[in-house]
Amino acid sequence: MRVLFLGDVMGRAGRRAISENLPRLRAEWALDFVVVNAENATGGMGLNAGHAQTILSAGADCITLGDHAFDQRDMQSAIEAEPRILRPLNLARVAPGVGQRLFTTTGGKRVLVVQALGQVFMKKPFADPYSAVDKVLKAHPLGRLAAAIVVDFHAEVTSEKMAMGHWCDGRASLVVGTHTHVPTADAMILPGGTAYQTDAGMCGDYNSVIGMDKAEPMRRFITGLNKERFTPANGEATLAGTFIETDDSTGFARRVVPVRVGGRLQASAP
Ligand SMILES: [Fe+2]
Ligand SMILES: [Fe+2]
Repeated sequence: MRVLFLGDVMGRAGRRAISENLPRLRAEWALDFVVVNAENATGGMGLNAGHAQTILSAGADCITLGDHAFDQRDMQSAIEAEPRILRPLNLARVAPGVGQRLFTTTGGKRVLVVQALGQVFMKKPFADPYSAVDKVLKAHPLGRLAAAIVVDFHAEVTSEKMAMGHWCDGRASLVVGTHTHVPTADAMILPGGTAYQTDAGMCGDYNSVIGMDKAEPMRRFITGLNKERFTPANGEATLAGTFIETDDSTGFARRVVPVRVGGRLQASAP
């Protein structure tokens, strides 16, 4: 199976790059399944129902969120009405939506997508992601119940993400990090057969500070003073993510390729 994962869509620039490129990439790369993290697609803060539909219509089969899951109020009801949107597993037990779902591709293959939040340097003390992910993976054996399994681990630090990669090795097709908005150069297949990349990067304008117009974040770092609100940078975005090709019988990754299309980052494609 050929699966594409795209990192955090950032504001209008990110949405534009998705709409302009994803339909073509989906066909050109013969993708069976596409997961898009869209936690910053609406003004950099969360995702509203309208923008979720824009991303789904462009060719996403599943949207994941993150710590910004419910920054846009209407997502609380939208996520209950749209099963293709997932929020992290380890939010409050009563939070709307779910953190994992088994999808069926148009070719009839089953793909499990799971998302969890990290605990280190995050805004809130989220529940243990390792036991939450473990429970889901035990219920969905790779190569049997699911032909492919994608784990989006939304976390700040590289160490916590690498540990999650190893924790899922041999049980998932891909463990990919999101949240830092900067792609890492460590795309690899772990010893047990799971593809891994510490962070997919963002789909946004990289002439920015992690997707925000650079003036205000620079002012805050340099002077320590706040003046304006953060607004997403609106130059040409790079689509950033991870491509994998899996073995349909085992669910393991045969190939993993970092993806960077358009904008300022050096191009990389499967
Ligand atoms: Fe993000
Ligand atoms: Fe985040």
